[in-house]
Amino acid sequence: ARLVVLASGTGSLLQALIDEASRPEYPAQVVAVGVDRVCEAEERAARAGIGSFRVRVGDHADRAAWDRALSDEVAAHRPDLVVSAGFMKILGPEFLGRFQGRVINTHPALLPAFPGAHAVADALAYGVKVTGSTVHLVDGGVDTGPILAQEAVSVLDTDDESSLHERIKVVERRLLVEVVAAVATRGVVVSDGRKAVIPSE
Ligand code: GRF
Repeated sequence: ARLVVLASGTGSLLQALIDEASRPEYPAQVVAVGVDRVCEAEERAARAGIGSFRVRVGDHADRAAWDRALSDEVAAHRPDLVVSAGFMKILGPEFLGRFQGRVINTHPALLPAFPGAHAVADALAYGVKVTGSTVHLVDGGVDTGPILAQEAVSVLDTDDESSLHERIKVVERRLLVEVVAAVATRGVVVSDGRKAVIPSE
């Protein structure tokens, strides 16, 4: 399966996909990386010999124009799946019109708890003892799409945001790689618009 990966940050989740995809038996390849800003993810793509494109909101007249430009760039790589791996922009109606059902996101909390861009800090501030990682299909909301996989991560009394986020990322990397491979080979069925099931072997 052809993957286009969207990222905005250090790209450690992107790196996990690149590393797995370099194994011949992995059923997906990263064919391109899209970013919304200058970020380390672009360098990781370059080091892996993977093309990247940057679509910045500030370069476009408005959000809809940005959404369309991003959609065109992604479509040019003929993706089977689009993976948002730390992409910090909300994908708009044009993008979802073209790719919904094939867009996977990973979020560093147990949705529906702690949606949004500060999930790890919010979980710490709330004082939860358990948080975790969620991999889900992207729909028109913020971190609201059908859930594909989740795994719990304990919060330690000594945790600060970065120590907790790093521990969550360890789980995210494994979960994302597994879910992408499963969806790439067996697809996903969504019922009642909410319940996503990846058919078993
Ligand atoms: C991940 O925890 C992701 O869930 C969140 O941002 C982080 C991205 O990490 N949205 P990286 O840029 O892949 O290292």
